[in-house]
Amino acid sequence: MKFDTLRWQPPASFEILDQRALPLRETYLRLHSAAAAAEAIRDLAVRGAPAIGCAAAFGIAVEAYRLRDHAHTAFAAALEAGFEVLGASRPTAVNLFWALGRMRAAWENVAHADIDAIVSALAREAQAVFAEDVEANRRMGAHGAALVPDGARILTHCNAGALATAGHGTALGVIRSAVAAGRRVHVYADETRPVLQGARLTAWELHRDGIPVTLLPDVAAASLLARGLVDIVIVGADRIAANGDVANKIGTYPLAVLARRHGVPFFVAAPLATFDFTLATGAAIPIEERDAAEVRGYGTEVWAPDVPVFNPAFDVTPAELVTAVVTERGVVHAPSTDSLAMLNRPA
Ligand code: MRU
Repeated sequence: MKFDTLRWQPPASFEILDQRALPLRETYLRLHSAAAAAEAIRDLAVRGAPAIGCAAAFGIAVEAYRLRDHAHTAFAAALEAGFEVLGASRPTAVNLFWALGRMRAAWENVAHADIDAIVSALAREAQAVFAEDVEANRRMGAHGAALVPDGARILTHCNAGALATAGHGTALGVIRSAVAAGRRVHVYADETRPVLQGARLTAWELHRDGIPVTLLPDVAAASLLARGLVDIVIVGADRIAANGDVANKIGTYPLAVLARRHGVPFFVAAPLATFDFTLATGAAIPIEERDAAEVRGYGTEVWAPDVPVFNPAFDVTPAELVTAVVTERGVVHAPSTDSLAMLNRPA
């Protein structure tokens, strides 16, 4: 049975598969405003860099529809507030700001038209952001499949699958495309503390597709690599700086260090919308710090509530540890400011 990470429900709403409830329950939340979309993003009901971008685009489209009876000036001020609330939802995945930039440009193109025309233009642009993401993932999959040998044992972290995108996935999209091309694979999924996106989402998504998957605690990855049980590591990204430094889910950087220690290739799959060429290096990538409750327990508190907690949601892997970056335009080996520059030009 197929699932939809996001579904456009024109003209007033969109739905998201509530990822907080997975894998126990498959429930869809219907969202009618930018504020509701921002809350769903902040609370991880919809998550993963490209899916966050799509949710923000749909959030602006439904907000414009909600405001359709306002006069022009009031409409513009209220829609501006919608951009603000979405822009403040989460800081690290640049796809959020990229998608809001697309929606703003679409608005500016028709800013002087009547409100109905603005509402239609924003709905069209949000659907384009969504459709282009699926297409980018399929292209990435086609390019990346060549990096996956037959019989590959693949380690991944967090969830960079269909659940993190409009469909197909980035890192898991590469794996899906390799399987479709006839490669036999076995995936090892890190559980990904503290919110368990690997255990709850990646294992669920792959198991459902019939792709063999073994779940492991994050701390077991070193043992897996030390025993020679991993041929490649592949992960997604939330933001890639101009020099190829990669921000991704906390725990990605140690995997890259381990992969280098054991001579295993470390691949990153991400669409161009995840690149931030305004940042020279990963040092300037804003890293979200999340609530201590995520670390103190999961559902039930298991730790003393007054002990301070360090809970960064992402870390930055230096480009020198990345074997190659897979994008919809192709594979860039040994990413650096020079080798990635070609991605910053129109196709
Ligand atoms: O906090 P999350 O679940 O939004 O973090 C997601 C990740 O870190 C993914 O690996 C990344 O967004 C790539 S998704 C294709």
